[in-house]
Amino acid sequence: MKLGILISGRGSNMEALVKACEEVSFPAEAAVVISNRPDALGLEIARSYGIPAVCVDHKDFESKAEFETAIDKELRAYNVEIVCLAGFMRIVSASFIEGWPDKILNIHPSLLPKYKGLDTHQRALDNNDVESGCTVHFVRPEMDSGPIILQKTVPILPDDTVNMLAERILEQEHKAYPEAVRLLAQDALKIVNEKVEIS
Ligand code: GRF
Repeated sequence: MKLGILISGRGSNMEALVKACEEVSFPAEAAVVISNRPDALGLEIARSYGIPAVCVDHKDFESKAEFETAIDKELRAYNVEIVCLAGFMRIVSASFIEGWPDKILNIHPSLLPKYKGLDTHQRALDNNDVESGCTVHFVRPEMDSGPIILQKTVPILPDDTVNMLAERILEQEHKAYPEAVRLLAQDALKIVNEKVEIS
């Protein structure tokens, strides 16, 4: 299965996916990395692995629809079959999602449905939560919603800072995303009443 990975920044989840794809037994390959920001570090990282890396800058388009059409065109040009949002900081529209039915995944740094949106780690600390984690889910038009494929949990330790917690969770993100992609690429995921069943 060919992956198209959408990023906006440092691209560490993208790199984790690319590395997983390099394993012979992994059922997917990284076909293209697309960033909406020309200065995204992830573009360099992708190129260092020999993966085509292109920028589709949202600022070059007059509307979100035109921007998304350009992204869609790139993905299809590379025969992408699964789209992975990996730190892609634009909300994708319902019409974009419709073009990829149950083929767009996202990773989010919280145990959804807790803490949709930004500042997840700060919010977990502010609420004195004892644990947090990450979630890989199918993308639906409502942000950070959609059937959950898998979650990984980490403890929140006394005196944790946002950075310490973020780092602990990121380590798990790098395991969770390839695991979820493997399941989807192996056709092991079924969505029943908006819940994921793993076979
Ligand atoms: C990750 O924490 C991911 O969960 C969130 O954005 C961050 C992206 O980091 N959606 P990176 O670009 O993958 O390093």
